[in-house]
Amino acid sequence: MNKKSNTIILAIETSCDETAISIIEATDQGPEVRAHVVHSQIDLHKEYGGVFPSLAKREHGKNLPPVLIEALEQAGLFNTQAHAPVPEEIQAVMTKNPDLVESFSASIPTISRPSIDYIAVTRGPGLEPALWAGITFAEALGALWNIPVIPVNHMEGHIASVLLGKTEAQNPKSETLNPKIEFPMLAFLISGGHTELIRATDWGSYTILGQTLDDAIGEAFDKTARLLGLPYPGGPAISELARKHRETHAESTRFSLPRPMLHSEDLNFSFSGLKTAVRYALEKEQDITPEIQATMALEFEDAVTEVCTNKLRKALTEYPADTCILAGGVSANTHLRETLGAMVASEFPQTTFIVPEMHLSTDNATMIGLAAYQSIIDGREKTVPSGMKASGTLRLDEQV
Ligand code: KG4
Ligand code: ZN
Repeated sequence: MNKKSNTIILAIETSCDETAISIIEATDQGPEVRAHVVHSQIDLHKEYGGVFPSLAKREHGKNLPPVLIEALEQAGLFNTQAHAPVPEEIQAVMTKNPDLVESFSASIPTISRPSIDYIAVTRGPGLEPALWAGITFAEALGALWNIPVIPVNHMEGHIASVLLGKTEAQNPKSETLNPKIEFPMLAFLISGGHTELIRATDWGSYTILGQTLDDAIGEAFDKTARLLGLPYPGGPAISELARKHRETHAESTRFSLPRPMLHSEDLNFSFSGLKTAVRYALEKEQDITPEIQATMALEFEDAVTEVCTNKLRKALTEYPADTCILAGGVSANTHLRETLGAMVASEFPQTTFIVPEMHLSTDNATMIGLAAYQSIIDGREKTVPSGMKASGTLRLDEQV
């Protein structure tokens, strides 16, 4: 048995509005998910129509310890001990988050140290106050239990989410467990904060080929949903309306939105004009009826899909790849994953197209644990003794 086998990683993700903790075990068969807990704050943020950073930080502070307990229970690693006070130097790590100090002090000292080898935590990109909550929690736990902490780039986490993904190209039923990622690889990352085409020659070696010049795709979904009077986050709402409408009204022509940068020479994107076009079109309507919501949702999804299909085709033509990965929250969109998957299968048969399992598309800690797992397997894991800093704008081509 190789020495990396049965290494156990506790992964923490708090870059936005999900407080998530997973436990991954490295087995001889590949990564195994021992626990997967995602506590969503969506209901709290809904009334602001988006994520409110200081509220997210407070909620993460309150929720991280109970979410940890749930994850340890799922993994069968939860055992109690007599309460011992948290040493002052460990409390000091968390002073900027009083909610975290309080919930940490109330519950963590009663948990006996689980057999965990590494703690992985998202260092960025994301909302800084939210990221800090996860980082200080990871450092405090690491100090208390004497476990090394590995910083993870959230976007590398989205890429690694496909390690438990699905190969769509040939037979969707085959290779669902631990698909093989061959390099060079092209990753199309589409989320609430990012729209990026990434080329990788290996794990950890990334070049950004193109990205959005303004809004991210997920942001465009969310803003369009808001204009249509649909709840936050808008992606799932638009996706559902468009799906139903597509089944019955395949050729919908009431609205006609632009396809921004469809034929631009580069691999960049721009989505803010699309949202403005939606606003202008809706201003001409007296009422936002369910029919208008559905027609616009369909036209919007079509516009985004057409742009994404063209850009991915251009990227794969210019940078042939053995594996193409579609990941990030917006990859939960069925129409997009099917359209892009079909395009790659028919036009780039030598490229294997891989998407994450649906529940690993949107933010979660399993993907953070998988990125850390891969770095440990490759022997390039980086541990930080203490003093890790959140980076809201951390790029994939930067050192994490
Ligand atoms: O990756 P993610 O969970 O968070 C960030 O890292 O940003 O992505 C969240 C984004 C949101 O904008 C949400 O509306 C979008 O993913 N999203 C979707 C779908 N599910 C989530 N967009 C389109 N269709 C979906 N089914
Ligand atoms: Zn994300």
